[in-house]
Amino acid sequence: MSETTQLAPELQARIDRLVAQATPAPMLSRAEKAALEEEIRTLLKARNAVLVAHYYVDDALQRLAEETGGIVADSLEMASFGARSEAEVLVVCGVRFMGETAKLLSPEKTVLMPALEATCSLDVSCPPEAFAEFIARHPDHTVVVYANTSAEVKALADWTVTSGNALHIARHLAERGEKILWAPDRHLGRWIERETGVEMTLWPGHCIVHDEFMAFELEKLRQRYPDAKVLVHPESPENVVEMADVVGSTKVLINAVQTLPDRRFIVATDYGIFYKMQQLAPEKELIAAPTGSRERQCQSCAHCPWMAMNSLVNLRDALRNMAPEVHVDPAVRERAVRPIQRMLAFSREAGLIR
Ligand code: 13P
Ligand code: SF4
Repeated sequence: MSETTQLAPELQARIDRLVAQATPAPMLSRAEKAALEEEIRTLLKARNAVLVAHYYVDDALQRLAEETGGIVADSLEMASFGARSEAEVLVVCGVRFMGETAKLLSPEKTVLMPALEATCSLDVSCPPEAFAEFIARHPDHTVVVYANTSAEVKALADWTVTSGNALHIARHLAERGEKILWAPDRHLGRWIERETGVEMTLWPGHCIVHDEFMAFELEKLRQRYPDAKVLVHPESPENVVEMADVVGSTKVLINAVQTLPDRRFIVATDYGIFYKMQQLAPEKELIAAPTGSRERQCQSCAHCPWMAMNSLVNLRDALRNMAPEVHVDPAVRERAVRPIQRMLAFSREAGLIR
């Protein structure tokens, strides 16, 4: 059996504080949006910049990224696109670990983030000092970390994975007889164990968005819509994942909506993904999976408070001011880039990315 302990109370308190401090995007009129979009298009050209956006950010940012030759993608494709791009400036609309990964892979490029302070509860749950102690207690293990971690934590790892390649990499390591130490998402870790039969030693982190999906309410919804297929991101709790017809990264869930013959889907991931799903399959019906915790009140309500910090206003400002810029200490970079490059090389060879 894999082991997890409880997340330290001070880390949980820090996550709660950061959620409370996350500032949502401002409300804008249609005219204000149009003016900002026009200015952003002009600035992107002037700066030789591209947008690298995640599926969870605001629809307007996803649309702009697509229209202007950038990309909207899962975290695996965001990393590989940024590294391949010929633009001088990458503007990462997402959360901090995504900007750091882009900078680690392209140190010669300027990497801007509209919301540099946008973090991720998984990243916060795994501070490098505590993680180094965890590794020291398991010296004979291969250290595999989720992309949702800081550059300092990646610098301690042998491999980085995303939910788009985690199963493949865990199987590969198990075939080589390696013991795996996994951080930080315990639900994703359990899913990998269940799917591969590989036992891992787990760090007790969680995503505040996916952790709130509730199996009991999901079952009621499934009874109400018996024809619906249930799509679940593997950061969700084990009893929710067990109810899924399809489990996978954001890209896998989007492909499922597009390619499965079913007309109705219950979706257990951040609702920012609905923009892309609806765009690719407008005839399909999407139903948000139910959330709740803390006396059944949801905290994130299926939308990442840090992804939501990215807006047309701070995107325009980032391009105008060429700030805030992502920096990574070169000494950290040297070690942190290796597990990411290993992951990308493996994923290319496995045909998971270009
Ligand atoms: P994906 O790699 O599936 O895009 O997931 C990233 C993430 O942060 C999900 O919460
Ligand atoms: Fe992190 Fe969860 Fe937000 Fe993804 S949705 S960035 S895992 S907090």
